[in-house]
Order: sequence, then C-alpha cells, then structure tokens
Amino acid sequence: MPLVARAKRVLVTGGAGFIPSNFIRHILQATPYEVVSLDALTYAGSMDNLAPVSAHERHSFVHGDIRDMDLVRKVVADVDVIVNAAAESHVEKSIDEGASEFVTTNVEGTQILLDAIRQAPVERFILISSSEVYGTAESDPMNEEHPLNPRSPYAATKAGADRLAYSYYVTYGLPIVIVRPFNNYGARQHPEKVVPRFITQALDDQPLTIHGDGHASRDWLHVDDHAEAIEAIIAADLDGIAGEVINLATGIDISVTDIADQVLAMLDKPTSMRTHVEERLGQVDRHIGSTDKAERLLGWKAGTSFEGGLERTIDWYRENEAWWRAPQRRPASVFSS
Ligand SMILES: NC(=O)c1ccc[n+]([C@@H]2O[C@H](COP(=O)([O-])OP(=O)(O)OC[C@H]3O[C@@H](n4cnc5c(N)ncnc54)[C@H](O)[C@@H]3O)[C@@H](O)[C@H]2O)c1
Repeated sequence: MPLVARAKRVLVTGGAGFIPSNFIRHILQATPYEVVSLDALTYAGSMDNLAPVSAHERHSFVHGDIRDMDLVRKVVADVDVIVNAAAESHVEKSIDEGASEFVTTNVEGTQILLDAIRQAPVERFILISSSEVYGTAESDPMNEEHPLNPRSPYAATKAGADRLAYSYYVTYGLPIVIVRPFNNYGARQHPEKVVPRFITQALDDQPLTIHGDGHASRDWLHVDDHAEAIEAIIAADLDGIAGEVINLATGIDISVTDIADQVLAMLDKPTSMRTHVEERLGQVDRHIGSTDKAERLLGWKAGTSFEGGLERTIDWYRENEAWWRAPQRRPASVFSS
C-alpha cells in the first residue's frame, strides 16, 4: 500500500499571544499543516485569542512553559517545524518591573528549545526576534547588517536569543532562521501596546497618551502580513535561508503622533484628545526596515497599507469590546502612563 505523507507538524510557542495566534489562524486556513501551540498563559496570553481555532481538528494546545525542559523535550520530539514566538514582549514592562522574566523566558527559554532540537532534530527552527535589537537607526532603511545596539532590557534579551540561535546554526549546523519583525499591529494586540492603546483610549473618550513629543517613528507591519512571511519561510528551500537573518518590514515609517491623529480622524474625534507624557526611558527614535532581503529570499512583501490595516484594526476593537475590557487587559500600569 502506498504510504500517505503525514502533514507537517508546526509547533508555535506563545500560541495564545497576539502575533502567534494570528499566525495559527492563518496557517490552519492556508495550509494542510497540523499546529501544536505551547503557551504558559501569562497576562499577555489568552485562550480567547485561540477561540476561532479551539475546535479545529488540526490544532492542539499544550499549557506549559518553554523554560520547562522535560515538557519541551516531549513536545519537540513530535514536530517538524518550530516557530519560537513565546516571549515577554512589553518594552516598558522590562524597564519598569525588571528584566528577570525577560531573561529567563526570552533567552533561557530559547536555549532550552535549541538544546531540545539538538536531541530531536527538526526540519527548521524559526526564531521570532525583533527589530528592537538594532536600537535607533544609524542608517535608513536598516538592513540586516545594521549594528545591534539594543536600548531596553527587552531588546537586549531579544538580541541575546537572536545571537544564541545563530550560534547553534554555526556550531551545530542546526536549521535555524531568524526573523526580525518591525512593529506589528492588528487584531488581538494587548492594549498595553501603542496602536490598541490609542484605539481603546479614543473609543473610551480618554486622552491619547503620547510619550515625549511623539516624533519617535516605527515601521508598522500588519500582523496578517507577518503571518504570510512565516508561511513563506516554512515553504522556502532551506538551503537559501538556513542561518539567515531576515527583516520583516514595510520600508515606511510612521510617527507616534501620526498614528494618534489617524486613529482620532478615523473615529471622528478631535485632535485635542492627544496629551503628552514623560518620554519613555530607552526610547528608540526611528526605525525603518529594509525589505530587500525578504523579497529576495522569500519573494515576500508586505501587502497591507497602514491606512487599510489601521481601519481593519479599529473595526476589530470596535466589534470586540468585551475582549479589550477584560480585567487582564486593563492593568493599572498601562493606563497610568
Ligand atoms: N508585537 C510586536 O510588535 C513585535 C515586534 C517584533 C517582534 N515581536 C516578537 O514576536 C513574538 C510575539 O509577540 P506578541 O506581541 O505576539 O507577544 P504577546 O505578548 O502577545 O505574546 C507572547 C505569548 O508568549 C506567552 N509566553 C510568555 N512567556 C512564556 C513562557 N515562558 N513559556 C511559554 N509561553 C510564554 C504568553 O502567554 C503570550 O501568549 C515575541 O517573541 C516578540 O518578542 C513582537
């Protein structure tokens, strides 16, 4: 009898978080892959985010921590591809509340996963790093050769994991690909992050709190475009991408003040709702990513305009008030700044 090929099994760590849960919904819809999500369900993760796929026959969920070596070994032994997205992800939290959880989850958690694939090899291991590893742009746009000058404890731990993963490619020949996404936005992002914070503040008729003078600008990537890029990495010929670092960016930067103005205009609210608060420590001034390498290696380019993506995002927050009003998404620290 001919053997029927088994569908690829993809482990997504941090699956109940913003970017990973959007990726899981996308990949289940776009491919025949099976998906296992592993998540510790910290304040940032929620099963609500996985509700659209909770009953999907190709999706299973493991409640657990990437720092739990025994559990990680067991889960990794049964998958073909790993997308390591679990992280403590909030820059301000790393500054205000200390870096300990950031170091253990972002660096040690990655090391535990990497050691697990030395014992149980996988087809490829995709590390979701971050453009924050670059620090403020020394050149525009920033390509993958830009120096790493992380400016916050969060960014430093991402740089640590990023280079640790690279070292496992060099030292052990593991099939590692590192992506450095620029700032993501879209549905299901915790309101501690700036785009959903502005949207929910505006919907609540609260002042939109801008750190410093609001000139800091970022390259804003819609989370659905991000999902397509990871799909392209899983499908690409490994020889062309193993050991590579790939920016996921749009090549366009937008300032914090511009975002506030666009949110207010789209919701028909006055610009007088903008208010300025103290500049964030460790602030990065400007980020624009080079898109050349992603286009060359993956044939991928972000397809969503900021205006179109922001409109979709606002619609989602308008239609999902219960989600963003849930107590775990309204920590005092977020709205006190
Ligand atoms: N949001 C962005 O703009 C952005 C940009 C670049 C890179 N990234 C990276 O993308 C990834 C996803 O970001 P996000 O914004 O979706 O984050 P998020 O905070 O929404 O989700 C992170 C998830 O990881 C889980 N988690 C945390 N610690 C864990 C642990 N020890 N073990 C298992 N699970 C754990 C949380 O419960 C949560 O579900 C992160 O690695 C982040 O650093 C994010």
